[in-house]
Amino acid sequence: MAATGSAVGLGNIWKFPYIVGENGGGAFVLLYLLCIAVVGLPVLMAETLLGKNGRSNPVDAMLKASRQSDVSRLWTGIGIMGALAGVMILSFYSVVGAWILNYIMQAAEGHFTGKSSVEMVAIFSQLRGGQSQQLLWHSVFLLFAVAIVAAGIIRGVGRAVSTMMPMLALLLLVLLGYSYIEGEFSQALRFVFAADFSKLSGTSVMMALGHAMFTLSVGMGAIMAYGAYMPEKASITKTSLIIVLFDTLISIVAALVVFSLVFANGLEPGQGPGLMFVSLPMAFGHMPGGVLFATLFFVLVGIAALSSAISLLEPSVAWLDKHTPVGRVGATCIIGLLAWLGGLACIYIDNVFDYLDFIASNIMLPLGALLIAIFVGWKLKRKVAKTQLGDLNYYQFNLWYAVLRVFTPMGILAIFIYGIWDALPW
Ligand code: TRP
Repeated sequence: MAATGSAVGLGNIWKFPYIVGENGGGAFVLLYLLCIAVVGLPVLMAETLLGKNGRSNPVDAMLKASRQSDVSRLWTGIGIMGALAGVMILSFYSVVGAWILNYIMQAAEGHFTGKSSVEMVAIFSQLRGGQSQQLLWHSVFLLFAVAIVAAGIIRGVGRAVSTMMPMLALLLLVLLGYSYIEGEFSQALRFVFAADFSKLSGTSVMMALGHAMFTLSVGMGAIMAYGAYMPEKASITKTSLIIVLFDTLISIVAALVVFSLVFANGLEPGQGPGLMFVSLPMAFGHMPGGVLFATLFFVLVGIAALSSAISLLEPSVAWLDKHTPVGRVGATCIIGLLAWLGGLACIYIDNVFDYLDFIASNIMLPLGALLIAIFVGWKLKRKVAKTQLGDLNYYQFNLWYAVLRVFTPMGILAIFIYGIWDALPW
């Protein structure tokens, strides 16, 4: 449940609908599902098995795995880079978390009622320009995350996710019902499932792959850190399949909810990051029960964001806790402070937000996922993987192994190179 909480986050509810909107709907969804199958799921399994095999934080788990297989210690770099990427992602992730908390308050106070699109754009840019507001909510958001992680794996993370995840599912179902009754549901269905391949570009392919990794939280050790706490008897394959299933289901339901409401108000689906912060609140603001349902919606997003944020802390916290005398509480406070400072930079310095997002999501995550695939596929003793995936039969294991060794690295590499090429200023 914790890993599902990590996976289901802003990526599902904020990012997925708007990139589907920008890339023409159904065809992109299909492409995304392909990336989940070829890259997301195989790497998710590989990362989990490294964690479960190592029974420790990502750095030490990689150290153990490289010793077991007599390969260079340099492979622990995956763990170190992952812990860093986690703090970087958390820095901007918690700024978006701050916007969500602010929107919960604004929704509850009825600020979105009857707003025109110009007024709604003004509300959002006022928030993004208002540094003290962002600073306040950013601090609150991080404080929540730090409190949960500091309380420990069972008393903190475990207890938090076992209340938050059922709440998340319930809220999403309520909102699905609402959008079915009040929104343009069939139009949303057509948009999400009708495939128009002419809308796909090279960039769409890159976005689909990047998002497949981001949404499953793979590539930086968060899943490895959680894998370390998995019960010995739990099946890695079954767990991974459940995570993928829930994560995808929630993304698709969130997209249906968002688009039914957006279409019901005659708004455009393809307007990028503002979809959830501008069009959606405006849509709620013109609908019956809008104040209540908008508030519920942003509470839902807040829960999803928080249960993901805690997994971004875990790798570095677990490492610091083990190797220094500061203890788990001290370790969480230190890492939380670093992320807080990173968020501060995002709020006060132009472009830091975009750079952190780009470097972490588009460079460090694909690189981490690529290295994990190569390590588990080519370096780790086959016997170690085989033991961890003990419930797979001969064909199942070899299918996973072949995909991880060949297709996953090829897919990531191709898109990685394309992405960097595309981003360079020529
Ligand atoms: N998966 C989360 C989302 O979809 C974000 C996230 C949490 C994440 N932990 C991660 C992304 C680790 C990459 C790596 O919002």
